[in-house]
Amino acid sequence: MTNRRTFIRTTAASMAGLGVSGSLTASVFSPTGILGANDKITVALIGVRNMGWYDLEDLLKQPNVVCKTLCDVDDTVLAEKAAELVKRGHQKPKLEKDYRKVLEDKDVDAVIVGTPDHWHCLPTVEACEAGKHVYVEKPLANSVGEINVMLDTARKYKSIVQVGQQQRSGAHWKSAIDFVRSGKLGTIREVKYWANFNYGAGNIPVPDSDVPEGVDYDRWLGPAPLRPFNKNRFHGSWRMFRDYGGGLLTDWGVHLIDMGLWAMDVTGAPQSVQTLGGNFANRDRALELPDTLTVLYEMEGYNMIWEHNGGVQTGPYDQNYGVKFMGTNGTMVADRDKWRIFSEGGGEDRRMEEVEDYPSDYKSHINHCENFIRAIRFGDALNAEIEIGHRSALYAHLGNISYWASDRVVYDEKSRKITSSAKADALVTPEYRGPWKFPSL
Ligand SMILES: NC(=O)c1ccc[n+]([C@@H]2O[C@H](COP(=O)([O-])OP(=O)(O)OC[C@H]3O[C@@H](n4cnc5c(N)ncnc54)[C@H](O)[C@@H]3O)[C@@H](O)[C@H]2O)c1
Repeated sequence: MTNRRTFIRTTAASMAGLGVSGSLTASVFSPTGILGANDKITVALIGVRNMGWYDLEDLLKQPNVVCKTLCDVDDTVLAEKAAELVKRGHQKPKLEKDYRKVLEDKDVDAVIVGTPDHWHCLPTVEACEAGKHVYVEKPLANSVGEINVMLDTARKYKSIVQVGQQQRSGAHWKSAIDFVRSGKLGTIREVKYWANFNYGAGNIPVPDSDVPEGVDYDRWLGPAPLRPFNKNRFHGSWRMFRDYGGGLLTDWGVHLIDMGLWAMDVTGAPQSVQTLGGNFANRDRALELPDTLTVLYEMEGYNMIWEHNGGVQTGPYDQNYGVKFMGTNGTMVADRDKWRIFSEGGGEDRRMEEVEDYPSDYKSHINHCENFIRAIRFGDALNAEIEIGHRSALYAHLGNISYWASDRVVYDEKSRKITSSAKADALVTPEYRGPWKFPSL
């Protein structure tokens, strides 16, 4: 039987999958009143503490979006955020510790997955299987094997999956990409990204300790290996430990690398990946991922380079992070505030017209949330459809794999194997700790 909810799911999913434009679908469906702007969309948030909460905040600013459930493994976080929702005039949310209960709830149309990276895959895959739409935070997941099965599952169920790469919904990023593609920079010979952040140095080490009250630590670890509780590996700072995250290369890398892949119209894997790095400057800190890393991506006709330095906050062009497109006529440098052009030559030899700095309107995140809701409601094409999240996560993870294996990585997209190194290939898919099972289609 097709009820309103099933209709919203299946119709919007197939339209979004086809990339049918919002205006077309809106005009087709609005007159019937079936998918009117007044239809309520019910969301639930899995992983509540930080970014998932910001996602929920901007989703709740969209018309007729309500939150039914908050799900987290930490009672303190749940209580605090539930009180905040009520204080802001939203309905009192149901509270859950087990995300599978959320997915069983037929009222829930869409879930936000705001858990640490090692906990993106299972809830996303199972949400697609349950017919829910998903807004999953970036990086898509913590390994190449996981992002592959997530992509396959989303395709199988024609799910609407928006990845939290909100730069895709930023007006100044779109204009930067258009500018690069216009050809005015000349031939692009190098695309470079850098990310220098203090937090990439890791925290000051602390001894293992008791699990905080109200935390289901076994569930927080989930498919990751069992180990004693340590505050540094928990809320917020888990990203510097490889069981849960991929350090600066996946944390910032997927945002920035995505801009380069977008501008250069990249649709496949790099030809090869090589890295140099280590924990050179912060040896007394609590981190497993390298504080210093350079990744060389072999691309067709240009060089692509990632660099990060944890523990410092200065960088080229007076920016601690950024994307650079170096062309024969000039160089574009972009960050979340603006993009700028540095022309080659001067006076009569100036190789390109003067271009004013293009500022950000800082609306990328709210636009991204609006785009997700419009995809559900009207079938708009998603700005960061799962394939986009998959691609930038693949590039980031291949860099980390090359680093851990100390080897050159050549990834064959057909077989989904690293053909250049058995040691690197063994790192494609993580082993899941029982009772959690690595998903299969
Ligand atoms: N889009 C962006 O710009 C952006 C910015 C920051 C973080 N992020 C991403 O958001 C995600 C979360 O990062 P964060 O900084 O909010 O982390 P966090 O540690 O602050 O919060 C994660 C929350 O998930 C909860 N959690 C863990 N396992 C769970 C489970 N099995 N079920 C339910 N809840 C669970 C934790 O208890 C915690 O409350 C990460 O993937 C991160 O990369 C994206």
